[in-house]
Amino acid sequence: MPGAIYAEGLVKTFGDVRALDGVDLDVPEGTVLGLLGPNGAGKTTAVRVLTTLLQPDSGRAVVAGIDVLKNPDEVRRRIGLSGQFAAVDEYLTGRENLQMVGQLYQMRAKDAKVRADELLERFNLADAADRTAKTYSGGMRRRLDLAAALVVSPPVMFMDEPTTGLDPRNRQGLWEVIKELVAGGTTLLLTTQYLEEADHLAHDICVVDHGRVIARGTSDQLKAQTGGERVEVVVHGSGMIADARGVLARYGIAGIGHGEVSVEDHTRKLTVPVAGGAKLLAEVIRDLDAVGVEIDDIGLRRPTLDDVFISLTGHAAEREAEENGGLGGESLPGGRGGERVKEAAE
Ligand SMILES: Nc1ncnc2c1ncn2[C@@H]1O[C@H](COP(=O)(O)OP(=O)(O)OP(=O)(O)O)[C@@H](O)[C@H]1O
Ligand SMILES: [Mg+2]
Repeated sequence: MPGAIYAEGLVKTFGDVRALDGVDLDVPEGTVLGLLGPNGAGKTTAVRVLTTLLQPDSGRAVVAGIDVLKNPDEVRRRIGLSGQFAAVDEYLTGRENLQMVGQLYQMRAKDAKVRADELLERFNLADAADRTAKTYSGGMRRRLDLAAALVVSPPVMFMDEPTTGLDPRNRQGLWEVIKELVAGGTTLLLTTQYLEEADHLAHDICVVDHGRVIARGTSDQLKAQTGGERVEVVVHGSGMIADARGVLARYGIAGIGHGEVSVEDHTRKLTVPVAGGAKLLAEVIRDLDAVGVEIDDIGLRRPTLDDVFISLTGHAAEREAEENGGLGGESLPGGRGGERVKEAAE
């Protein structure tokens, strides 16, 4: 039986761009699917198709048991959507915005008011509840939009990058709300560029790039696919990077797209996937010492979803510019040589 969100062979083109290039999805009822991908991967397009806002060129989709193309109105009655760009009424106050949603869903005025107050509290908007949304900051609008999507708890929810632009405290708050929602039986599809977020919230993850699902599984499965542990070394001087790379290359294990030493020049950090555990670390330290490489830091770590992304797509997930000013943080392994190059934001 198909899950609460089901899609088969979705294709959507915009001119030359294949925003969706044959996407299949199946999300069991009561679970969270994380749709993970960089800018332009097709996440929003997928959400828009599944929420009836956009017609696909081909493929089919069933949401909450209803065919999305044949019965869009029925689907709309059963879903909630919070978009990447907040859809709040500027001229209403925060409280009025939420009460209005309640009324649209035919809640009794009193219930709508109680629910609005509850959500304003949850999303740290209580103090601003009676100001028009026009006066809200970007993060406040985002939170109001999310609150609006949660006025009623529909059986199926879609959230497109729900935490982009939220500060850590509000992000944490939203994670809690999402967990409660899912504990209450809601099926959720959420898109994110934050690998940590998918790791934290999603039962299953689909990694999308260029309109295709390039990997799927649980966070643990995806990490296992990327190989085991990594040795991470920070060398004392930039002049030592080449020698350190030579040493580490001997320890790299081969696999799909890995086994190579990656280097982040500005932090003097080298990373290589290894097999062997803690004992290996001592050997690496000895070998580095033997060639005169001084180390500032060395450690063994489990692969993160960032590693997964890099090994699957050949490039790192792009983060919001707010996080790293558009450079610095994310560097990318080039194809063959294991060189990392910086990629300009798209
Ligand atoms: N209405 C449109 N007209 C033309 N091209 C579009 C339109 N909507 C999306 N695209 C293109 O389709 C591709 C996928 O876009 P989409 O918005 O789905 O990506 P995304 O994964 O949501 O990206 P982001 O992380 O930046 O939100 C992009 O190349 C985008 O430019
Ligand atoms: Mg998007």
